[in-house]
Amino acid sequence: MSKEDWDKYDDSSEIKENQGYIPKWFSILFGGTIVFGIVYSIWLYASGWTQEKQYREQVKAAQINEPQKTTVVGLTEDGVNPFRGDKEAIAKGQQTFATICAACHKADATGLVGPNLVDNKWLHGNTDKEIFHVIMEGVPADKALQKPPKGPMPPHKASLGAKKVLQVMAWLADKNPSLKPK
Ligand code: HEC
Repeated sequence: MSKEDWDKYDDSSEIKENQGYIPKWFSILFGGTIVFGIVYSIWLYASGWTQEKQYREQVKAAQINEPQKTTVVGLTEDGVNPFRGDKEAIAKGQQTFATICAACHKADATGLVGPNLVDNKWLHGNTDKEIFHVIMEGVPADKALQKPPKGPMPPHKASLGAKKVLQVMAWLADKNPSLKPK
């Protein structure tokens, strides 16, 4: 553009600056979003919510409410038996106990070679996590704590697997409240 053209347009009355004011409702809305953002951030931080926490809670709930649907049957994130209180699992657990464990622990679990499992005395801990470990891995003779020693407790990781062991534990927990979730 030539200088003349510039001057023409620059002085032209066709170009004028309008003073448009932002409507009040818009300013309020705008300010409101900022205030909301700050308040919401503080609230969210204070509530302790995190994506990871929510994920863990949902996985845990699924393990407890729909253990058959979860791909990995095992203790929950908290080390709790997901079959606790599950009637079907308790019934299956009783069957497994009768066929596998009763030989050493007696059908009513009051003990023979193996100790009583329905009293409140525990040699290797009384939480789901500890008992799951004992049943899955067994107790080798040199770690046996019964006095006088009556032999080792065989492992059941391979023969039964986590699901059946947890079902047995659900049955035991149902009979013996001293078997604590954690
Ligand atoms: C060959 C016999 C035998 C069989 C079969 C057996 N146990 Fe045991 N169990 C033992 C002995 C012996 C001990 C005690 C080990 C010790 O002295 O520490 C024991 C210990 C335990 C304990 C730990 C008790 C405590 O006080 O800490 C649990 C729980 C248990 N058995 C559950 C089971 C379950 C469930 C089964 C079936 C899946 C089973 N056992 C099968 C012999 C057996």
